[in-house]
Amino acid sequence: MTLKNYDTCLAIDGGTPVRTTPLPWELPGAHWIGEEERALVDRVVRAQSPFRFYGPDPQKMVETLEREWSDMLGRPHALAVSSGTAALTIALSALEIGPGDEVLVPGYMWVSCISAIVRAGAIPRLVDIDATFCMDPADLARKINSRSRAVLLVHMSGAPGHVAEIAEIAQCRGIPLIEDCAQAAGASRHGTPVGCFGDIATFSFQLNKNMTSGDGGMIACSDDSLFRRIVSLHDLGYARDSGGRLDTSDVTCQLWGMGARMSDLAGAMALAQLRKLPLITAAMRQAKWRIRAALKEFPQIQLREVPDPKGDSGPFMIMTFEDREMCSRFMAALRAEGIHGPEGSLSCLPMQAWGLHWYFNIPSLTGKRSNSRDGFPWSHPANDFAGQLDYRRGALPVCDDLHDRSGLLAIASNLSDADVEDVIQAFHKVATAYFN
Ligand SMILES: Cc1ncc(COP(=O)(O)O)c(C=O)c1O
Repeated sequence: MTLKNYDTCLAIDGGTPVRTTPLPWELPGAHWIGEEERALVDRVVRAQSPFRFYGPDPQKMVETLEREWSDMLGRPHALAVSSGTAALTIALSALEIGPGDEVLVPGYMWVSCISAIVRAGAIPRLVDIDATFCMDPADLARKINSRSRAVLLVHMSGAPGHVAEIAEIAQCRGIPLIEDCAQAAGASRHGTPVGCFGDIATFSFQLNKNMTSGDGGMIACSDDSLFRRIVSLHDLGYARDSGGRLDTSDVTCQLWGMGARMSDLAGAMALAQLRKLPLITAAMRQAKWRIRAALKEFPQIQLREVPDPKGDSGPFMIMTFEDREMCSRFMAALRAEGIHGPEGSLSCLPMQAWGLHWYFNIPSLTGKRSNSRDGFPWSHPANDFAGQLDYRRGALPVCDDLHDRSGLLAIASNLSDADVEDVIQAFHKVATAYFN
């Protein structure tokens, strides 16, 4: 690409910005909502049957979505649920995790990962990340102990890290692996889709995700009896018969349900989006790797390690600078050049502004808060050991360092060539001013 002749004076210093129109919103699936979604939702509305299990004329959208999801993963079971948070909560309960148990979780994640563990009555054990911005296998191996009951691996910001290594560690130590794929639907590692490495995989279809039904989620697994538990837990604690009515007779499924079913309206949206998922992720991946390639000439911008670029689903580019000050300056200068979304979007920012993705920014974790008056689960006698755990900044040195020095650029799923060129141009302009 040839760079346009631009005003070398940075916009942040009063120069002319590279662009003045905002980039598109960073919400990947939303840009692709169209006739296909409308047609499937319309079928459900016309049939007056928005409930998945019975009604005048069920359209079986959720059921079809689940079938196509398990085909995509090549796993026997998939169950649609109401959110990614619900999916995590159900996964932990399906594995019978509770007081006395530790769940290993990375320090760069989303608050839902921690809240699911704490609400289960278990204790989060933080694991550091590595240059992939995902869980560091070496730190995982160090942190596993006799109380570890599950590893909750999170495929952050669109791309898996050293997932195969982590799966191997979990397997060797006999600990179930949950993969949180909320931010990486459609991603893979050397041809194996995320969601196929662990015992249970969870996904989210909330608006910011690679595909969306507004809200929604998915759980996948291979084990038949585990799946039966998952199905009961997501519903009212019991299985259903072939007519969709509750069946209390199975003693292995007399549980406490979470009321997290997906409606057939959300199922219709998600089904149409699933069929577009390869196109959505390809668009983001191509734009992102074009930008990455153009930044090679600036070694001062260290790009996130992505072990398998072909398997990157592409929604974010993460870059790390020499120090905190340079990171803040660079990201502010990029924004001034017009590299940001419309008002309200979070598309170009230092990690310092990325809130509840970082462990020490979660007040309910650092303050060991409870939903109940008795301080559960921190106060539970089986969790006495949690008294020694400190979740404040300082617990994970690599997380702390990468948080301070890194910035994040969301890659919209509908960037035009001109948008991509503007992004490259702005990076080039700011990097030339700051590094040359
Ligand atoms: C990594 C991760 N896990 C879980 C969730 C929770 O998903 P939801 O918002 O659908 O509950 C999200 C997104 O919000 C997420 O990014």
